[in-house]
Amino acid sequence: MSFRETYGREPDGVWRAPGRVNLIGEHTDYNDGFVLPFALSQGVTVAAARRDDGVFALRSLQSSSAAEVSDPVPGSVDGWAAYAVGVAWSLREAGHAVGGASLLIDADLPQGAGLSSSAALECAVAVALCDLYDVTVPEPELARIAQRAENDFVGVPCGIMDQSASLLCTDGHALLLDCRSGLSAQVPLDLTGLTVLVIDTRAEHELVDGGYADRRTACEKAAELLGLPSLRDVTDLGEALSRLGDPVLRRRTRHVVTENHRVEAAVGLLRAGAVGEVGALLTASHLSLRDQFEVSWPEADVAVEEAVRAGARGARMVGGGFGGSVIALVSSDRAARVREAVTEAYTKRGWPEPHFLDAVPSAGATRLA
Ligand code: GLA
Repeated sequence: MSFRETYGREPDGVWRAPGRVNLIGEHTDYNDGFVLPFALSQGVTVAAARRDDGVFALRSLQSSSAAEVSDPVPGSVDGWAAYAVGVAWSLREAGHAVGGASLLIDADLPQGAGLSSSAALECAVAVALCDLYDVTVPEPELARIAQRAENDFVGVPCGIMDQSASLLCTDGHALLLDCRSGLSAQVPLDLTGLTVLVIDTRAEHELVDGGYADRRTACEKAAELLGLPSLRDVTDLGEALSRLGDPVLRRRTRHVVTENHRVEAAVGLLRAGAVGEVGALLTASHLSLRDQFEVSWPEADVAVEEAVRAGARGARMVGGGFGGSVIALVSSDRAARVREAVTEAYTKRGWPEPHFLDAVPSAGATRLA
């Protein structure tokens, strides 16, 4: 199904935005902390043309459902189309005059695999609409607009990491983002001789489920009890823990505070060219997400364990948790062995075979044609 076959004309342009993996810094973004994602080469492509009738028409090569919306307001659309239409709504809410458009969406990124297919869709649509209507928005602000679409139009309380990664990342780099100030830096990520293997555990995750929102609330509660604007502001972890009576809040706090430290340590290692040494931090991050933040899932734990046993430098779950993907940092000559070991462990348990892809640090959203 080409654009011409769908809409009877050629598109005005084609735009693409990538998915992401987060090297480290999980569940820190909505705590005003630090994250270190990089963009994948896989992503979402949007072919688009302006329309004068104000309508947003949407089709996707991955779905049989279509949508036509003339008045994008929250609640008017659901399913995948809400992520796209929500961006038009959010751009307008931010005062940007974007009109209607015909959009044809294609993706080579698995959905529900924790690789930010939603943010990739939002960001591809955001750059397309901005270009179609000659609207110039600095990327950090466009990331907030896309995040708002997801928060207030779709109703998912995500943080700012995924949209920032999709828009701001550059080839060969990870993005160090301070989620409080919004300031970011490109950190060289030279993977020569190393592979970041993505293991899609095939357990689908949904941020709309309660677990994610529940973690956010717990973090806010802990910060409030500590009299701090956010958990980012904890300077003495031991002292903070001694003031929190609830063991659950203590565990959540311990994760967020130590995870921010791990991001800083990882950045130091990357800047020193010691990329392989980041592996130990990845595994430490996973254990903290499993035991302190309690957002891991059995397939992820097995993938991490088997990957490390088979010689990975380190491994961890990525994204919100409760399903999705694991990344393993592996010497490239051991990648096949890690894949085999994880697959074998899954087969033994009667789980669906995991899917694998190589995560190559790639560029953020761009116009293709
Ligand atoms: C999801 C959210 C992000 C972030 C991660 C956890 O991917 O969309 O904003 O909170 O979970 O680090």
